[in-house]
Amino acid sequence: MIVCRTKEELKKNLNHLRENGKSVGFVPTMGYLHEGHGSLLRLAKEANDISVLSIYVNPMQFGPNEDLDRYPRDEARDLALAETNGIDIVFLPTNEEMYPSKPLTAVMVSGLTSQLCGATRPGHFDGVGLVVSKLFNLVKPDRAYFGMKDAQQVAVIEQIVNDLNYDVEIVPCKIIREPDGLALSSRNVYLNAEQRAQAVVLSQSLHLADEWIHEAGLSAGALLDRVRSIISKAKEATIEYVELLHYPSLQPIIEDELLNGMESQIILALAVKFGTTRLIDNSLLSPSGGVQHV
Ligand code: PAF
Repeated sequence: MIVCRTKEELKKNLNHLRENGKSVGFVPTMGYLHEGHGSLLRLAKEANDISVLSIYVNPMQFGPNEDLDRYPRDEARDLALAETNGIDIVFLPTNEEMYPSKPLTAVMVSGLTSQLCGATRPGHFDGVGLVVSKLFNLVKPDRAYFGMKDAQQVAVIEQIVNDLNYDVEIVPCKIIREPDGLALSSRNVYLNAEQRAQAVVLSQSLHLADEWIHEAGLSAGALLDRVRSIISKAKEATIEYVELLHYPSLQPIIEDELLNGMESQIILALAVKFGTTRLIDNSLLSPSGGVQHV
């Protein structure tokens, strides 16, 4: 496994490995890797000749009052997990390497970034769009792997790829969960024991919604009320949003619209704070059939 800390090292090593048209699978991350990332690494490894992991806590996607300074980091453990999964190249740039000067170019996606997480994290998706564009230009992957826990991020990145003609296939990957259902996240380490126990309510409510969606006569508004009422039973939970939207357009569903038999794919997306820790989760619901991700 080759560890590159500069763009030059990355370019040199990639050019060398990529000879004879070998394919490159890329997993961009902010580190503090867990089994969710592990599953992306294995998919990238299996489907491509060369696998690349980037680890970079991108300051541009954190707001002024967010957790940039305390975002968990563990380089040694991350490198060990990458090695175990047979990753060929790890790119670990510094801030100076990624942003040698203040960028004057923006990658902003309208229509997909003002709702859900974008409503309370203004500028977040601009930061994601910029860093992912920079990473795509450096790595030039054939395929890039993203977890569907950040479903809005996946929709935004797919839009960027289509709008800017990036020659990369975005592979959305299913959410990996703890045995009790909690979606894996680097931020789960912030939860105390009580909050951790209560956080299971997120996946439980999504699971119930998956069943309710098929009920004849159930409206979008009624389903949202049920989900909100289940989450509110957890004492430590403060709901930021519980929303049903069309996916990937992220356009609203009318509250009194009936769900049963609806043809399009819809997303039930949640953001809930347990203490100061903000967790997100979601489920893609297809009232008239199932939805699969790799
Ligand atoms: O999902 C993440 O970890 C980050 O948003 C990403 C895509 C690596 C960009 O910094």
